[in-house]
Amino acid sequence: MSKTVLITGGAGFIGSNLVHYLRARRPDLRLMVLDLLTYAGSTDSLPPDFRFMVDAPITFWHGNVCNPSLVHHLVERSDIIIHLAAETHVTRSIFDNQVFVETDVMGTQTLLGAVLKHRNKVERLIHVSTSEVYGTAIGEVIDEEHPLNPTSPYAAAKCAADRLVYSYVQTYGLPATIVRPFNNYGPRQHMEKLVPRFLTSALLEEPMMVHGDGSAQRDFVHVDDTCTALHALIDAPIDRLRGEVFNVASGEARSVMDIANDIVALTRSDPALVRRIEERPGQVVLHRGDYSKIQALLGWKPTIAWQQGLASTFAWYQQNRAYWERQLKLREIPVIHADGRLILH
Ligand SMILES: NC(=O)c1ccc[n+]([C@@H]2O[C@H](COP(=O)([O-])OP(=O)(O)OC[C@H]3O[C@@H](n4cnc5c(N)ncnc54)[C@H](O)[C@@H]3O)[C@@H](O)[C@H]2O)c1
Repeated sequence: MSKTVLITGGAGFIGSNLVHYLRARRPDLRLMVLDLLTYAGSTDSLPPDFRFMVDAPITFWHGNVCNPSLVHHLVERSDIIIHLAAETHVTRSIFDNQVFVETDVMGTQTLLGAVLKHRNKVERLIHVSTSEVYGTAIGEVIDEEHPLNPTSPYAAAKCAADRLVYSYVQTYGLPATIVRPFNNYGPRQHMEKLVPRFLTSALLEEPMMVHGDGSAQRDFVHVDDTCTALHALIDAPIDRLRGEVFNVASGEARSVMDIANDIVALTRSDPALVRRIEERPGQVVLHRGDYSKIQALLGWKPTIAWQQGLASTFAWYQQNRAYWERQLKLREIPVIHADGRLILH
């Protein structure tokens, strides 16, 4: 009998790429998407053959992961759950973090309560956390034992959710595993995030605004590589995953200024488009992930090189202008700095 996979946040960036990925490779799985369709989610991101709430290979449920009765209804029908629903933008969490705590923490708590209730049905919960929980790297690379020092309200909310899942494994023995992807990029990412923002600025011949001196370094992994990792976690024996944490990373650090320069070179833009603005509060200075744990256990490693991934992502944004043009006004976010000044980031 085919298994049912509940994907929360499946109309967002990683979630929708995962739905496309599984739809193409796993016709044996039935996919149920739960998504509130906030400013960050859209049914336009889903394969066109999804259906609303009826029996179909992909069903879409428009609703809130914090709604216990809806979540219980869906979890009761699920064998596998991949939990991605969250508020996700660091800068936005500086401006207004209440919804981050509600969705990222309480949403996860609601889901965990439902999984506990239906533990005889649910085979596994894959919780998608984030590398942001680590804060700035203490050494050269970040492995799963690195201390958790979240530096933004978003990261702190995700950290609470991450440890809440762990506590349910320890307390109730839930079949849950935790994934910490580093910075993802690829098609269908919201314009507020760095790579699409710079790529579309190049297409519009507008300035690319770099925070501070642009030296903050991040580990960028292509979303298809993240989907491959999540796919591997669907099939791996649960006893090897229960309570474990897995980084999903490229293993390479790239500065924000390097990214701007790479995009200038790729798109043959004027280098003068790269401009600097004030540093963002709560910035992580160095982030480079160690993925050896998931490689040793599941054989996963990143396969999409940065230059190749950047070029294919640019091609997607070139070809899908109508998709992102309606998000243009959401690119800039007001941030109140410690001294009370309000600056657009
Ligand atoms: N994008 C990255 O670089 C990255 C890196 C590491 C981890 N993550 C994590 O992966 C997950 C997905 O990230 P993303 O980049 O795809 O985010 P996204 O912002 O593109 O998508 C989030 C989705 O969740 C939905 N959502 C928000 N609140 C909801 C609610 N209350 N109920 C139901 N749905 C709700 C939104 O409508 C949206 O479709 C998040 O948990 C994020 O923390 C993302």
